[in-house]
Amino acid sequence: MTALLDMRNVTVFRGRTQVFAGLTLRIEEGCNTAILGPNGAGKSTLLKMVAGELFPVFSPDSHVKVLGRERWNVWDLRSHLGIVSHDMQHEYLPGTPGLEVILSGFYSSVGTWRNQSFGQREHRRAEEVMERLGIEALRARAFGSMSTGEQRRFLLGRALVNDPGTLLLDEPTSGLDLRTSFLYRDLLRELARKGTTILLVTHHVCEIPSEVQHVVLLKQGRVLAQGRREDMLTSEKLSELFDCPLHAVSHNGTCQVFPAA
Ligand SMILES: Nc1ncnc2c1ncn2[C@@H]1O[C@H](COP(=O)(O)OP(=O)(O)O)[C@@H](O)[C@H]1O
Ligand SMILES: [Mg+2]
Repeated sequence: MTALLDMRNVTVFRGRTQVFAGLTLRIEEGCNTAILGPNGAGKSTLLKMVAGELFPVFSPDSHVKVLGRERWNVWDLRSHLGIVSHDMQHEYLPGTPGLEVILSGFYSSVGTWRNQSFGQREHRRAEEVMERLGIEALRARAFGSMSTGEQRRFLLGRALVNDPGTLLLDEPTSGLDLRTSFLYRDLLRELARKGTTILLVTHHVCEIPSEVQHVVLLKQGRVLAQGRREDMLTSEKLSELFDCPLHAVSHNGTCQVFPAA
């Protein structure tokens, strides 16, 4: 079986910070996975490596393989992976109409450019995706004037236009109110049930939908543990991960944590 991600002995710096020192991690293709860890654990860094935005320090005994390959044309890679991250929300010019945010997904670019062409097929697909996410009425609305929840749905739509096999999501519901975050989570669950693989990065335990059965606990650039959801989302493991006494409770497929008494 190919791995979505196969990292061996990987060392990565961001500026002067060494985020990973010899990290080895394998995530199977088709296995919905959550990477859970506190702020600064290296979660976003890991996703950026999968997306081909960041590279490790070269060493002969280390590699990062994504979908079985070490070398990718970054545009090809991004047509296999749909990426939704926070950073992107700030990169779009506030005046960009919703439809253009969606269309930019065909080229995995931020915004659309004159040299890019969008024919009937692309427009039809963009409409289809907007209808699926319930945002078609906002197609002409400026991105900067949308609510955070609406912006997130447009960014999800942007990631979906190429019908990617895998979605990479970095803290997708942070900053959303409860109702909006549940709606967003339902969209992810529906995608997962229809066969899209989800790789979700988060520090919110309750954000992990029950369709995600594999959990990697990442702490200070190291894998503390990984395994089946029910074995990872325990009071003991989560207390160790977040360095504070926690009590984990599962209800209807959602895990929530409370400070331990
Ligand atoms: N652009 C950057 N320059 C320097 N250090 C960075 C940069 N981005 C992230 N870091 C550092 O790298 C570490 C991991 O960051 P990140 O992957 O964003 O963590 P997480 O997503 O788990 O919160 C943190 O210590 C953070 O301060
Ligand atoms: Mg992050």
